[in-house]
Amino acid sequence: MQSSSARARWVIGNWKMNGSLASNAALLEVLTAAPRPRPGCSIGVCVPSPYLNQAQRLLGATHVVLGAQDVSEHESGAFTGQVSAAMLREFGGRLVLVGHSERRQHNAETSEVVAAKARTAFAHGLTPVICVGETLLDRESGAAEATVSAQLAPCASLVRDAGTSLVFAYEPVWAIGTGKTATPGEAQAMHAFIREEIASFSPNARDTSILYGGSVKSSNAQALFSQVDIDGGLIGGASLVAADFLAIAAAL
Ligand code: PGA
Repeated sequence: MQSSSARARWVIGNWKMNGSLASNAALLEVLTAAPRPRPGCSIGVCVPSPYLNQAQRLLGATHVVLGAQDVSEHESGAFTGQVSAAMLREFGGRLVLVGHSERRQHNAETSEVVAAKARTAFAHGLTPVICVGETLLDRESGAAEATVSAQLAPCASLVRDAGTSLVFAYEPVWAIGTGKTATPGEAQAMHAFIREEIASFSPNARDTSILYGGSVKSSNAQALFSQVDIDGGLIGGASLVAADFLAIAAAL
């Protein structure tokens, strides 16, 4: 079932800390040679920052959209190791993930920092892909919605200002890299909840894209993407294999 709204549909690869010049070139060659998705649908890849230059060169004017996996909330200055939004733009970045659960977990990123990163990205013309999702403990204790709501709350003013220039990704932490996927029904229920939360911040909720992530594969993509509030996917492991990623994109 396709949504009747104006929402952009996306399949975005999150390569995480994987890749090499040789393997990236092979993967991007296949992705760029594949037919472009139908109108209203796009595919993108979020590459490790050192490979932005290579990816910018190889993607050129193709339909594959380039993104990064993180951005600093600061403009520039004494922030050793961080990468600015302006730098991502110079290297052709159009998307950037913010608040991926691995960064929330391993880099202690708070939801306030995530919102600040998203605001900086938006101010520089990048589309932030704001990731939210509960842990298994949250879900088992009945706190999944409260957790996601608290993660979204600091983004309220940005949602008002940025309208539909933001993308959200619901990624239950227990489904990331585990092979366990939320059922289409579980995912749809949380997407509908996220859309209601966004609607409490801005009138644009109906036109805001919300992607699902967490062990998406070619075998489950269709069932997930056909849910009324699921507008595509954020793909980790399966985005590293061209045929798998393209098969997922074909389910858009
Ligand atoms: P996965 O990762 O598809 O490997 O579960 C998704 C993500 O972390 O974005």
